[in-house]
Amino acid sequence: MCGIFGYVTNKEEALGPILISAAERLTYRGYDSVGAATLNNGKIDLRKDVGKVDSVAAKYNIAEMRGQRGITQLRWATFGEPSQINSQPHLDSDGDLVGAHNGNVVNNVELRQEFMAEGMTVRSQNDGETCVHAVERYINRGYEFIDAIRLAYGDLQGDYAFVIGRANDDKLYAFKKGSGMVVGLGEGFTCLSSDLPSILPLTRNVIRPQDGEIVTLWADRVEIRSVKDGKLIERQPELVTETMDAVQKGGFAHFMLKEIHEQPQVARELLHLLDGSPEVEHVIEKMKSADHLYLIGCGTSYHAASVGSVFFAQLAGRAAIPVLAPQFIAQYAPAVGHDDVGIFVSQSGETKDVLNALEAAEKRSMSCFGLANVVGSTLTKATSFCLPLCCGYEISVPATKTFTNQVVTFLYLAYRLAGKDTSELLRIPELMEQTIEMVGPQIEAIAKDINKWNDMYCLGYGATYPIALEGALKLKEITYAHCEGMLSTEFKHGPLSAVSKGFPIVFVAGPNDVPLIISGINEVKVRGARTITIAEEDARLRSNGDDLVVIPRSDPQISALLGVLPLQLLSYHMSVMRGFDPDFPRNLSKTLTVD
Ligand code: G6P
Repeated sequence: MCGIFGYVTNKEEALGPILISAAERLTYRGYDSVGAATLNNGKIDLRKDVGKVDSVAAKYNIAEMRGQRGITQLRWATFGEPSQINSQPHLDSDGDLVGAHNGNVVNNVELRQEFMAEGMTVRSQNDGETCVHAVERYINRGYEFIDAIRLAYGDLQGDYAFVIGRANDDKLYAFKKGSGMVVGLGEGFTCLSSDLPSILPLTRNVIRPQDGEIVTLWADRVEIRSVKDGKLIERQPELVTETMDAVQKGGFAHFMLKEIHEQPQVARELLHLLDGSPEVEHVIEKMKSADHLYLIGCGTSYHAASVGSVFFAQLAGRAAIPVLAPQFIAQYAPAVGHDDVGIFVSQSGETKDVLNALEAAEKRSMSCFGLANVVGSTLTKATSFCLPLCCGYEISVPATKTFTNQVVTFLYLAYRLAGKDTSELLRIPELMEQTIEMVGPQIEAIAKDINKWNDMYCLGYGATYPIALEGALKLKEITYAHCEGMLSTEFKHGPLSAVSKGFPIVFVAGPNDVPLIISGINEVKVRGARTITIAEEDARLRSNGDDLVVIPRSDPQISALLGVLPLQLLSYHMSVMRGFDPDFPRNLSKTLTVD
């Protein structure tokens, strides 16, 4: 997900080891390339490349770098391949400014064209370089540094955090939009970073800049100014008392809970990125003209593909076949050809079952695209184009934020296929935030109530059917209980016999499917089941079932997406109540590279 770190001291010193240690503490965010720059007495020393921190540091002897100021950056490629030139930090045209960012500048392509037309030297595809030129543009026009930054801020669209310095100076400057940034104040130095873990071993005295603020860092003080009017903003430092482990988990008890809460933010970043991506157009065109369209994945990724296929049909009238990757080989590969399109979905991009299916499809000359979170993974390299999920590292084994961003991607593609206005989707992150807030305490109470059961069902219909499958998978993965996901209408064809007094059955009801779901609820309730329904507020559902877990009002597709959040939380709480570690469930692996 990229990470930046900047350090300012009052005299030239060995900054290499400080930058390497800070970079190592940022690695948990995920990255494919590393860079470091030091600034001293009018000179900039810049070293960077693709690879791990230790190998890039050894290859370029970063430990020997000296300076009065330093910047390091870990890049997690989204658009623009991992390469030395795309690695960060970046220089301006003349090489007297250096800067690095994390996040995404969504008008990167347009801005780069403008900069080239204005005669600047643009060396990479990377949007971090765009941030540097955005400041350079106004320096060239004669503005003071702070004013140049204020104007650049207005030009740079997206979610990012950025640090920049100039050779002939003694300060660093930083600003952010949407992404996180923390400034540290130490003894004889100041520093800043994308997040706390890289700062904490240096100082516990921090300031958290807000969007629309510019921070100037000297060795002994920092100054915050408003982008809007350039006026000084007063902010007192706060003392951080949490442990490093707690900080890495962002104050949450487990990575899974942290990643559940990160979903609105990563969805926001993804939606901005998709809107700014020229490559998405190519995928859409291929999908439109495809003879048959297959969505292929395993586990959670298959569930996202299944939600996607419902969206494509409901919104765009486009049939798409969701299929488990090994079954694709047996059932469809012998029949596919040049005019068919496959989207291969995988968080890790390394699942062997998925790569096997890709190989089978390519043998038949099918057009193959990817949808993966880990950039640089085998799937991203093996497909002609792989859409990124932009979730950063997902550490907990049960997938949460990568699932919702897969679903958001499919919803975005469905909107584009249907010619619908994708700006309507920008309300999703806020709806997700509301959902997490609305359902939290109720879900915890339900988890406590039903936790004694080792057998349960999770039922849905239409777009909520694969959501129910995903909820059941989460419960199985981390509670070690048996939970079966099923189409709600199928329950009467057999499983109904399992119902006894108090037997927990979770329903996920889309706003258009309430009467059908009520039939299902009544069938099991009269036989003693305890029903839990996840749906928008509805008097009919309230009077027919037991618990109604209310999610915000939206539309049938977004409602399905929101429906998975209570299920993630339910499985999380049940796992913790059982004394298990939801981040690392027994017997399971995040990346399955075996048949
Ligand atoms: C493993 C994990 C699952 C995951 C599946 C597919 O089985 O335990 O949680 O859904 O692989 O992973 P992928 O990386 O291809 O999405």
